Amino acid sequence: MRAVVAAGTGGPEVLSVGEVDAPRAGAGEVVIEVVATAVNRADTLQRQGFYPPPPGATDTIGLECSGRIAELGDGVTGWSVGDEVCALLAGGGYAARVAVPVGQVMPVPGGVSLVEAACLPEVAATVWSNVFMTAHLQKGERFLVHGGAGGIGTMAIQLATARGAEVFTTAGSPEKLELCRSLGAAHAIDYHDEDFVEVLQDAGGADVILDNMGAKYLGRNVTALATAGRLVIIGMQGGAKGELDINALLRKRASVTATSLRARPVPEKAAICCGVVENVWPLVASGAIRPIVETTMPLEDVARAHQLMEDGSHSGKIVLTL
Ligand SMILES: NC(=O)c1ccc[n+]([C@@H]2O[C@H](COP(=O)([O-])OP(=O)(O)OC[C@H]3O[C@@H](n4cnc5c(N)ncnc54)[C@H](OP(=O)(O)O)[C@@H]3O)[C@@H](O)[C@H]2O)c1
Repeated sequence: MRAVVAAGTGGPEVLSVGEVDAPRAGAGEVVIEVVATAVNRADTLQRQGFYPPPPGATDTIGLECSGRIAELGDGVTGWSVGDEVCALLAGGGYAARVAVPVGQVMPVPGGVSLVEAACLPEVAATVWSNVFMTAHLQKGERFLVHGGAGGIGTMAIQLATARGAEVFTTAGSPEKLELCRSLGAAHAIDYHDEDFVEVLQDAGGADVILDNMGAKYLGRNVTALATAGRLVIIGMQGGAKGELDINALLRKRASVTATSLRARPVPEKAAICCGVVENVWPLVASGAIRPIVETTMPLEDVARAHQLMEDGSHSGKIVLTL
């Protein structure tokens, strides 16, 4: 089948479309004929050799897709061949077909096209699991998400706003700040010349922070937390090793958590997907949350898509179609 192959590790130019063996559906799995997939920052790390697939996962890059069910494995119920779906993957989305545990298969939410649906599973599952299942963001609480104009950020702003939080976010250009406001952010902070700590402290502190920067923002995030605040770190764009002021955490009775979605056991991912379908998809269907797509390009342009993500000028998601 057609799939993205890598000529070793390195820059975007190592990626091209080639031929690999097609997967078959194992017990409890379905095979999806892929219509579209989307680029995630983790894909660029995998390409560079810094983020190998978990044991048992395919080497083919791609953490999400949309398409039609092509094959049902033993024991699979509730789906039929031909159903239009989207799915959270451990890998393999940049290909004509992918096998996925049935618990990670979701219906296409109402109101979005099959192509648009490809850019929802990873961001919806990441934001739902970290902000709501782990950090328990409540209506009326102050929520800070860094990188509000990115894939994760655009979903986090919309979902937190729809569930009644007061949303603060950071972004790096006037256009991106404006996008964040248009998605519901009450406070969009230019991280080049404003101090998010001051803004949050003036407002009473952040109850929940979703952080993509890691070490670079660790100390400032802890300072920006409110009493009983919850900091959830999902990225290391600003480094992996930082210093944690435990005294500040003690005084605030605050917590710091870090999670990775990809390596979680299949039953945990299935529970997250159930939560997404129950809580996020109705908001997509109602129009309260919309997919934010920077651009859609054919799979053959995968190297250009990775370059675009690494240049950092994009907002929302970059979609690849088959
Ligand atoms: N742990 C997990 O399970 C998990 C799952 C999914 C994603 N992630 C992580 O989540 C992060 C976002 O992923 P994504 O796919 O949404 O990538 P993305 O679309 O490329 O977004 C990255 C964002 O980082 C922002 N950024 C860069 N420098 C910043 C700074 N100094 N302060 C604040 N924001 C800054 C960028 O904002 P500007 O363009 O405005 O500069 C951009 O919006 C990545 O680190 C990714 O690895 C983790």
